[in-house]
Amino acid sequence: MADIRVGRLDDIADGGHKVYATSGREVGVFRVGTKLYAWENHCPHAGGPICQGKIFGQIGEELTPDKRSLGLFYTGQKHIVCPWHGFEFNVETGRHPGDEGTRLKGFPVDVRDGDVWLRLPG
Ligand code: FES
Repeated sequence: MADIRVGRLDDIADGGHKVYATSGREVGVFRVGTKLYAWENHCPHAGGPICQGKIFGQIGEELTPDKRSLGLFYTGQKHIVCPWHGFEFNVETGRHPGDEGTRLKGFPVDVRDGDVWLRLPG
């Protein structure tokens, strides 16, 4: 494992992200409040550039026991939507909402003195 400085925290707006190319990989760093999440820019569906997708609020639907809709609502979770075929992944967990086994590959990320550091396999 190697710690690699990729940029400044100030360069990533709250709710935004940046994609860095380093050590032969592309990694998207997503900022949610004071937390950062780092995901490989490789969609598990077919290899698309997932970290370059748009971010949307997840929409839920409340149903009656006989499956009639009582309306749609925002869950408060944010999803990255893959620009190739539209698969969605939770920004914070990297998981696909409908398939627990389909997820993004993540890396440890932290901030030291305002710099963003990734820990990547060597
Ligand atoms: S490559 Fe991402 S949804 Fe197909």
